[in-house]
Amino acid sequence: MKATITAHKDYTVSKIDDRLYGAFLEHLGRAIYTGIYEPDHPTADENGMRKDVIDLVKELNVPVVRYPGGNFVSAYNWEDGIGPKEERPVRLDLAWHTSDSNQVGIHEFADWCESVGTEMMLAVNLGSRGLDAARNFVEYVNHPGGSYWSDLRIANGKKEPWDVKLWCLGNEMDGPWQIGHKDAEEYGKLAAETAKAIRAFDKSLELVVCGSSHSNMPTYPQWEATVLEHTYDVVDYISLHMYFANPEKNASNYLALNQKLDDYIVAVQGVINFVKAKKRSKKDVYISFDEWNVWYHSRQQDRKILEGQQGWPHAPALLEDIYNFEDVLQVGLILNTFIRRSDVVKIGCIAQLVNVIAPIMTEKGGDAWRQTIYYPYYFASVFGRGTALDLRVDCPAYDSEQYQNVGYADVSAVHNEEDGTVTLFAVNRHSSETIEISTLLQGFGDLKVIDHQIMTHEDLNAVNTVGNKDNVAPRKGEGAGVSGGILTASLPPYSYQMIRLG
Ligand code: AHR
Repeated sequence: MKATITAHKDYTVSKIDDRLYGAFLEHLGRAIYTGIYEPDHPTADENGMRKDVIDLVKELNVPVVRYPGGNFVSAYNWEDGIGPKEERPVRLDLAWHTSDSNQVGIHEFADWCESVGTEMMLAVNLGSRGLDAARNFVEYVNHPGGSYWSDLRIANGKKEPWDVKLWCLGNEMDGPWQIGHKDAEEYGKLAAETAKAIRAFDKSLELVVCGSSHSNMPTYPQWEATVLEHTYDVVDYISLHMYFANPEKNASNYLALNQKLDDYIVAVQGVINFVKAKKRSKKDVYISFDEWNVWYHSRQQDRKILEGQQGWPHAPALLEDIYNFEDVLQVGLILNTFIRRSDVVKIGCIAQLVNVIAPIMTEKGGDAWRQTIYYPYYFASVFGRGTALDLRVDCPAYDSEQYQNVGYADVSAVHNEEDGTVTLFAVNRHSSETIEISTLLQGFGDLKVIDHQIMTHEDLNAVNTVGNKDNVAPRKGEGAGVSGGILTASLPPYSYQMIRLG
């Protein structure tokens, strides 16, 4: 099977915001406790943070991490996580039917972000709380000093403010499962007033308002329209979430699901444009896709805890999806979609980062390792910075049960003008045929292959475990080359690859 691709230096989608490759950490399961924080662990640093995990996160070059939730944030009192650790209260977490010792709060999380070299993206609680708690939190985090909350931060050991730029106005407020769930009118008004207060403190902060939790929500896309009618002038991003699943074990349907993601983005872009026109606004609002990933492997095993049959455990194993090789292809497809829509999707957060539906797994007291999906995320985050190219891809396609005309080859490309590289990310969705790609490269000057990484596996269900950490891992690709301005390469059946030209 053959695919022809055209890439031209001047045919671009957009400069990619680095924050497209962000991640998410919630007080949920073992994401924080025994994930990033484990004071008794042999690798723990002076803050009790696991250095083995810090090293794996650093490798990913994560630009921003959303915190502290998720559903958790909608009943969270941020003040519980400040001050002497021994005086912090243990609280019941109503979202996940667990308890939280509050040994990690804003100070500990901020120190961890500094250790891994990332920015914070903080969410305020607009579920059980509201404007007042939100404005106090912003003052605590960002005000230099001389006010009640900023002086309390200083008394708690942090002289300089953290200067966090990006703030989420609640989480998934359209979801009936959310503590303090609201309808679009109620939430839109509360979000607008909270945004107004935060902007009165600092106009330069960037605010993210809740869109739909997923595109099957009954209120989608009217939710976006109503919420934006209230908030358009005072927010910068609308948040979308989507999780992918393959419970029927049907690979061709599963691997077509990024078409649903694409439709979701395009539809919300339409709603944004509608509200912008209605308001005669000159300002733009973009999408923050601040929760996305595969999530289904652990659903059954979590049931007992979530239904409260095990009391209120602290940091139990929850949402610990063990990812397989098929999920490598899915994560590659999701990231390709974001790159191709980077004109409207400016922020993205893989959900989540450690243990909870995550690319990094840990054992309490033991090892940390890379799940299969670590790799496509790693390649995109590290090498996908620059300008997204508007490719023309011509290749045979198939119909899944839900989507028509799904190309067997799914490709995105990024031009980095600073170092002159062009990087292609490609997935072959075909179960048995190799795709020979031929890419016409125009306007980039002389390019040759400088790196080529490929992931294949004979078993779509293959996983990485603590005892077999490299079962699914990339290896050097072979046979890709440029001649006469044309890149040729082979995409084996069910494969993911990255080809870098420079
Ligand atoms: O990431 C897990 C959960 O998924 C988050 O807490 C919530 O926002 C979403 O429903």
